[in-house]
Amino acid sequence: MNVAQIIEAKRDGKELDAKSIQQIIAGYADGSVPDYQMSAFAMAVYFQSMTEPEIVALTKAMIDSGERLTWDSAKPSVDKHSTGGVGDKISIVLAPMLACCDVEVPMISGRGLGPTGGTLDKLESIEGYRTELSGDEFRSVVNWCGCSIASASAKLAPADRKLYALRDVTATVPSIPLIVGSILSKKIAAGVDALVLDVKWGSGAFMKTIDDANKLADMLVTVGNQLGTKTIAEISDMNQPLGKMIGNAVEIDESVAVLEGDGPDDVRELTLLLGSKLLVAAGTEPDQAIATKRLQSTIDDGTALKKLAEMVEAHGGDLSRPRKRATSHPVTSIESGVITRINTDRLGLAVIEMGGGRKKIGDPVDHSCGIEFCVRIGEQISKGDAIANVFCDEKLAPLATNLVGAAIGIGTT
Ligand code: URA
Repeated sequence: MNVAQIIEAKRDGKELDAKSIQQIIAGYADGSVPDYQMSAFAMAVYFQSMTEPEIVALTKAMIDSGERLTWDSAKPSVDKHSTGGVGDKISIVLAPMLACCDVEVPMISGRGLGPTGGTLDKLESIEGYRTELSGDEFRSVVNWCGCSIASASAKLAPADRKLYALRDVTATVPSIPLIVGSILSKKIAAGVDALVLDVKWGSGAFMKTIDDANKLADMLVTVGNQLGTKTIAEISDMNQPLGKMIGNAVEIDESVAVLEGDGPDDVRELTLLLGSKLLVAAGTEPDQAIATKRLQSTIDDGTALKKLAEMVEAHGGDLSRPRKRATSHPVTSIESGVITRINTDRLGLAVIEMGGGRKKIGDPVDHSCGIEFCVRIGEQISKGDAIANVFCDEKLAPLATNLVGAAIGIGTT
């Protein structure tokens, strides 16, 4: 089949064979399939979805588009990945904690996708932090300090690198086959032994219902294990931001606070849950209670914070230097009542409007802007109470404060 025929078959809901999937993915990676054909294919997959064998073939084709890393340390190599959330800084907190627990963490992360933030964009708010490492550099950072958070090198799952950026700007992100292929291709190519996936549902997630999140989690676990990586998944709630901070520099600040023993409880709790399950899956700890204690001890004795500083230094940055934060503008409630709903994706989109994310491929990111979101669902508030602080350029403040104010629903119960 030629590429147009492959697109046509998927558009019409037919099951593709592995060879056709391999052909279009390999062609996209080597440049012979242009963006416009891949956009059409991604949209066809978005509408028609894929069967399990197609998703396995898609993931495999994306892995095979580049090289695969292997790790020869005696320690298991592990990783965690989220399906995308707002205020989700767990990777930045968890990677150094894990690296203090007899595992290695070669963590391949992504950039902002739709309204959800990207770990790499957040880390780049640390002046000097290089997210783009060669395979050899990535390996030597992991060997030296036990963890590295970097982008997939140009040689690792290059099909995902291109497709991820394309999906971000073609409204083709919330598709189970495309999410599974994207996440697992880079994780499996990075050669990890065990992987925990944080599958989010709710207003700030790509999966809006818990049922869809369960379907995504099942598919991730099935395909990951079929392709030889011990894969587990947890479902988590994304109907409100994780922690208080949403953006880039502000999320690094909040991650540091958690590692200092402060910071929001929800961030610490989810970090411990995902980390403990992963240590058990990797065979490093016998049960979750022991694993949780061990992880908590890395916060209590300061070793995880030291480890994060070490990793940042290995990437060319300095964690002790304050990060730039734009001017703060308060958002206050225009009525009294109970917070009944938060349109969390709108908060992510507000950060993009401020310049903290991308509207099209290659847009520059202003790391200094973001939101401190001060209220939770179920909280009683009075007219005039602070809902949030918005950090952005003066001229964007009216738009940003309106967007954030409009993202919450206030009711009587
Ligand atoms: N994270 C990824 O790496 N890819 C997706 O498609 C969604 C979240």
